[in-house]
Amino acid sequence: MKIEACIFDLDGVIVDTAKYHYLAWKELAGEMGFVFTETHNERLKGVSRMASLDILLELGGISLDDEQKSKLATRKNNRYVSFIKKMSPREILPGVMQFLGELKAAGIKTAIGSASKNTPLILERLKLQSYFDAVIDGNKVLEAKPDPEVFLKGAKELNVPPGNCVVFEDAAAGVEAALNAGMVCIGVGLPQNLPGAHKVIGGFEHFRLVDLMNL
Ligand code: BG6
Ligand code: MG
Repeated sequence: MKIEACIFDLDGVIVDTAKYHYLAWKELAGEMGFVFTETHNERLKGVSRMASLDILLELGGISLDDEQKSKLATRKNNRYVSFIKKMSPREILPGVMQFLGELKAAGIKTAIGSASKNTPLILERLKLQSYFDAVIDGNKVLEAKPDPEVFLKGAKELNVPPGNCVVFEDAAAGVEAALNAGMVCIGVGLPQNLPGAHKVIGGFEHFRLVDLMNL
């Protein structure tokens, strides 16, 4: 396989935003009178905002109509945004900048493929906007992962066949989406959480271009 492009999930791959999502969901759960734990939070990784809210309400045994749900989602997002607004490039995960630099030097294209509608703000805060040739996020797709839409759109914008793309993902639904797109997928995290990934790495600290080429 000739690797022509790497497509990166954002949350959990480039930056650890899960802690901010957790704080915001926890506050919301607290207001509704139930406890939301970090273990619960694991279930929300890679899941869209509204689907995350549905899981949260299910955990609390609460049922609401669409209007009430939309208000809650907005409240959670306002809180989340108040956290991510304060982020800085120091929060980019170890090894990421070096790996992106190696890809650029090798002429391999890069894209973001994220479910988050806050992607533009996060990339701005991390000063990463100019590092990606394409950014496909929750504002540009209709179908959530495991649907392959986000990654297929990324490949299309990069003008690279899906079969020549490698996806980096930290969530099971994202790994599935990459496989559904016909791409190679490298899981970032623990192998037991990322079934189907062609390879799983702990992060980019010890992952170099040569490791990608030896896949
Ligand atoms: C994903 C996160 O990247 O984006 C999920 O892993 C999050 O936890 C989803 O729910 C949607 O994010 P946002 O920023 O649009 O609420
Ligand atoms: Mg993720």
